[in-house]
Amino acid sequence: MRFLGWAYNYNFKQAWRHYTIRGRTADRIALTTYLDTTYGGKSYLYYNGRSALSVALKTLLGAKVVGAKIGVNAYTCYSVIQAVEDTGAKVVFLDIDKQTFNFSAKTLAETAKKHRLQAVIIQNTLGFTADIKTIDKVCKLAKIKIIEDLAHSVGLDYSDGRKVGTVGDATFFSFGRGKPVDVEHGAALVLRNQFTDAKIYTPTKMPRLRYRRSDRLYPVVGWKVRTFYRVGGKVIAWIALNTGLIAKSAEGKVQPHVTITNWQARLVLEQLQAGPKMSRTPLLVENRNQVLKALTNNGYFFSDIWWDAAIGPRRLFSKVTNFDPTKTPIAYEVGEKMINLPIDLTAKEKKEIIKIIKEAGGAGDGK
Ligand SMILES: Cc1ncc(COP(=O)(O)O)c(C=O)c1O
Repeated sequence: MRFLGWAYNYNFKQAWRHYTIRGRTADRIALTTYLDTTYGGKSYLYYNGRSALSVALKTLLGAKVVGAKIGVNAYTCYSVIQAVEDTGAKVVFLDIDKQTFNFSAKTLAETAKKHRLQAVIIQNTLGFTADIKTIDKVCKLAKIKIIEDLAHSVGLDYSDGRKVGTVGDATFFSFGRGKPVDVEHGAALVLRNQFTDAKIYTPTKMPRLRYRRSDRLYPVVGWKVRTFYRVGGKVIAWIALNTGLIAKSAEGKVQPHVTITNWQARLVLEQLQAGPKMSRTPLLVENRNQVLKALTNNGYFFSDIWWDAAIGPRRLFSKVTNFDPTKTPIAYEVGEKMINLPIDLTAKEKKEIIKIIKEAGGAGDGK
């Protein structure tokens, strides 16, 4: 059996360590020192990426943030929209390229002209880096502020040799569930260039008990769910989610006053120093529901997808009222066709999965 979700990226030893590890104030200081040095700025720690993003926008744009137009990848996570709208700014969706899932410099230039964008979020979707050299030029010319979103791309380099996270005026990270650096919840913001000296609030409040408990438990519960799936694991999964013992993915508010816990800061630094790893490969298929059903019947539980709608997760897509599929058709199509595979499949598993997808009518053009 293979899973995406349910902490599939943890073995039992890692899950147990996650459950029991302790942290100290020194761990958060060590993490901010590492981020300051690596990304050349001043860093702040948060409980989730959406909070870090909202602070980034407010700091970069000041009072002008209200009503400002922000360029956002039209294939993204609901929390990005949540963060932008929380500041009073407006999202302008940028359609993507089907191969890289990022917008092109041309799309950005055209949209910037039409909408007078004030800032743009570069997210390097699923670890595919954006065409930063040209995008940077467009932004300089049109005076657009760059915010780099490293949720999927921490540790990578752009094709022009620059380290991802060292181009924009602000860089933010999400260390949330399933990300390349994964401690269930956690985030950071690095303010760069002239914003290094900005006077901003340093969050000190700890997350609520319910979230701290869920964060501690998820990898251990996930391990149980996966290991005993056919003999009670499925029931454990249902109970954990429906009693609120485990928080659902993408759940959470913008809370700029809440910070990461010390033990999570300790784990984040360890993972950053070890070299983060993206653990998913994207694949576009036709007849997604049938494909997922056929995969599940064969022991491949891959229904946890980044993202299963242009603005994922699908259960939150309907909340996004300004998304028009006719204006960003590629992002919409990708959201309807995307599935993810674990990166570490064996050759035998790959062969079997391809066969299952073909038989379920997933290979649209007969490939
Ligand atoms: C690309 C991207 N940016 C930002 C976020 C927001 O992170 P968080 O869930 O920690 O608020 C996510 C979350 O999934 C994401 O995938």
